[in-house]
Amino acid sequence: MELMSDKLKKEKITIARLQHKKRSGMKISMLTAYDYPTARLSEEAGVDIVFVGDSLGTNVLGYHSPHQVTMNDMLHHIRAVRRGVQSSFLLADMPFLSYQSSTEKAVQNAGILLQEGGVEGVKLEGGMPVLERVEAIAKAGIPVMGHLGYNPQYQVPDANVFNEERGTIPKIQGKGPKGAVTLLEIGKRLQDAGAFAVVIELVTVEVASLMAENLSIPVIGIGSGAKCDGQVLVFNDVIGLSEFELSLLTPYTRTREKWLEAIKCYRESVESEQFPAAKHCTNMAPDKFAVFQSILKNRKK
Ligand code: KIV
Repeated sequence: MELMSDKLKKEKITIARLQHKKRSGMKISMLTAYDYPTARLSEEAGVDIVFVGDSLGTNVLGYHSPHQVTMNDMLHHIRAVRRGVQSSFLLADMPFLSYQSSTEKAVQNAGILLQEGGVEGVKLEGGMPVLERVEAIAKAGIPVMGHLGYNPQYQVPDANVFNEERGTIPKIQGKGPKGAVTLLEIGKRLQDAGAFAVVIELVTVEVASLMAENLSIPVIGIGSGAKCDGQVLVFNDVIGLSEFELSLLTPYTRTREKWLEAIKCYRESVESEQFPAAKHCTNMAPDKFAVFQSILKNRKK
């Protein structure tokens, strides 16, 4: 007899499997998760890479910037996600200052995410300045993913642009030939340093397409067009939980309004005493209640 648990058992996603997907032209799906229930949902939906991004800070913890996310924040949420993921590949971001200050610290912290969080790989942002870190982490035997293009942890002066209508917004990378060549070259350097894949964020379609074509490692895009080997998105954006919609994608559903409606209904039903109804509660058996009442009566005497 086939058990439900057998039906749900899926093939384990490994780096070898991800590389095979790239070589075979099968697209890779990657989605952020920050807690147990959303990790379970992504696992059940068959997402290849479940990713605890440092977007945890702004999406779940109410921080105003990814710079506020600490190793402890990451570990707390990674452990919850770990408990919900079996088949998907579990990846986590290295938070701000966990790798920027020294190579030794980078290896140490990457190891902590594996040892104490149970992740199967780590991701870190940056180009040339982090090549040495990527190489050292990979040499320590820790699977490491790069992240090029827009890097939220690197708020350098030209990271953003000002738009009359939308205010300060992230700058699209690779719009000119010089930037395009640099992106392609750094992608190759990351690959040579031992990265097993690279995320490219807000990169022009042409450059993204060339990177996917020229790199042997999977190139996972976000806001970088359909030619990448895979896509990554933030969970809250996929389910439409955010107050503001991004130009980057159209949510697959608008959860926020549905949740808000449900919470309002709950509050109203409490206030109007419609909740809880009889079916939500348990009564004492009448004979037991009668005994209880007589005990109380005797006590009063
Ligand atoms: O933290 C995050 O969610 C990310 C994605 C934007 C790739 O790094």
